Amino acid sequence: MRVVLLGPPGVGKGTQGRKLAHGCGWALISTGEMLREAVARGTPLGVEAKKTMEAGMLVSDPIMIEMVKERSAEPDAGLGFVLDGFPRTVTQANALDSMLQSREQRLDVVVGLEAPRDKLARRLSARRECPLCKRAYNLVSAPPRDGLRCDDHPGELLVQREDDTEHTVRRRLEVYDRQTAPLLSYYQGQGRLREVSAEGTMDDVYRTLAQALGCRV
Ligand code: AP5
Ligand code: MG
Repeated sequence: MRVVLLGPPGVGKGTQGRKLAHGCGWALISTGEMLREAVARGTPLGVEAKKTMEAGMLVSDPIMIEMVKERSAEPDAGLGFVLDGFPRTVTQANALDSMLQSREQRLDVVVGLEAPRDKLARRLSARRECPLCKRAYNLVSAPPRDGLRCDDHPGELLVQREDDTEHTVRRRLEVYDRQTAPLLSYYQGQGRLREVSAEGTMDDVYRTLAQALGCRV
């Protein structure tokens, strides 16, 4: 099965993407995580993308399309994948359609996750992540056991993402409304959109998704 998780910053794409990949045996393709890894490694792509990401803007379509083309062709994506953060523009959505068609594959479902804006901003300001395994925590809704360090890597102090400042979060939400939200009607028109509320707890949201997609709850 091939699934896209669509929704604004902080709605839970990364959180649910990880759980679904684990529960369903699919590859997780998170373009934001791939870019952050490139930034951390200081690759030419990372150096180029860093400023754009910190400004809350989108990295260019050709770069993102190539990245997903390569990643989705890896063996672990053969049984299915969940896309977190891609596509984000109509150009990317068209490229994804063409790519899958050329492989005689198709996109099965696009999940549109939604939650009120004030909730998104609160989730993002309290988000922290493990610098090593990238597991996401939340100081309010999902704190680590000791309040500071990763449960799985007790030597690692959790960190805040560079783009989770108030100013950049506002910009990311504007960019979402302008460039990504139009994809909801794009996929609605294709009959692939399934809207799911992301307002409940992480486990509640996962249960709804897993049942809808036929995965282990
Ligand atoms: P990306 O990493 O994709 O960021 P984003 O879309 O802004 O989304 P976030 O990762 O901030 O939120 P999320 O929905 O994953 O929420 P999470 O699960 O962490 O992209 C970053 C940047 O990379 C972009 O701005 C752009 O520059 C670039 N980029 C990436 N892809 C691109 C593309 N295709 N094209 C161009 N540029 C691209 O949850 C948030 C917090 O809430 C966490 O603390 C979590 O623990 C908590 N939480 C989650 N669910 C719940 C719940 N149900 N209840 C309570 N708390 C919850
Ligand atoms: Mg994310």
